[in-house]
Amino acid sequence: MRHFLTTQDYSRPEIESLLDAAAELKRAPCQPLLANRSIALVFFNPSLRTRTSFDVGIRQLGGHAVVLEPGKGAWPISFDALEDHPVMEGDEEEHVAEVARVLSRYCDLIAVRAFPKFKSWEVDRLDLVIRAFARYATVPVINLETITHPCQELALALTLREKLGRLDGRKFLLTWTYHPRPLNTAVANSAALIASKLGMDVTLLCPTEEYRLDERYLAAAQQNAADNGRTFTVTHDIAAAYRGADMVYAKSWGALPYFGRWDAEKPIREAHRHFMVDRAKMDLTPDAYFSHCLPVRRNVKVSDEVIDSPRSLVIDEAENRLHVQKAVMTYLLGQR
Ligand code: CP
Repeated sequence: MRHFLTTQDYSRPEIESLLDAAAELKRAPCQPLLANRSIALVFFNPSLRTRTSFDVGIRQLGGHAVVLEPGKGAWPISFDALEDHPVMEGDEEEHVAEVARVLSRYCDLIAVRAFPKFKSWEVDRLDLVIRAFARYATVPVINLETITHPCQELALALTLREKLGRLDGRKFLLTWTYHPRPLNTAVANSAALIASKLGMDVTLLCPTEEYRLDERYLAAAQQNAADNGRTFTVTHDIAAAYRGADMVYAKSWGALPYFGRWDAEKPIREAHRHFMVDRAKMDLTPDAYFSHCLPVRRNVKVSDEVIDSPRSLVIDEAENRLHVQKAVMTYLLGQR
């Protein structure tokens, strides 16, 4: 049995094959490939796109979704290690060991969104919540965003393929942008992973060394790039980064060395508001496309002029969530 926790568990040909299936499903959206099959969507954090696209997607294939929000309509869940024989005297009413096994009896797939707690990166980087679901479930588990966002990766990849054709050697700029709060690194990790896996030359633009992504993802992206004979570069030079870019992908994230000490990070973040994607920066490119995973704060991360321009792919990428996730669900349930 296979899970879909990170695209790093999938080879480039396997990813290309999922994208082919997604393109086919985009052409013929309603097919009874998952008739009477079901998915449990477990959300520990809010969502608009992920929740809607999975619910609509499985219905278009003849199945159905059950949305669960632990602690808010479903019982709060404990993730304490069973090896430690936890005495469950806190707020949690049941353990993930029972939750994952029971949901596996009702549903054919379990999908989980569990953001970091933003207190200790050493803990959050272990991705304990989804790993626990994967450990105890007897059906495939799908990552709806934890410390990576593989479904978003596939949507981005399908969108890039639709606009640029073959991606080898095309230039992908992943730029940090300002946001008033420190955000998850998941989408940035994921963008670096998928663009490098699909043969693009990737540049990561961030304000200072403190905004480098976790070394694990930088190393993986560097290895992906090397496997394709391409480059993966980190820079703090805005003009140099934009020059030659075919695609500008924006995301904000909190600096990992300040994890849990966000008041100390705030002045650094505030000093880099000028990283917002605007027309002047886009004019440094040879007419690059722009995208963002959404939700996005206008005129904080990206100017109206850029997000509303014909080169903006944000809505296409959001739509493609629907098609790629249908491909993932049918693949995991052996329907392709
Ligand atoms: N991009 C994305 O995952 O959107 P939601 O947070 O709305 O699901």
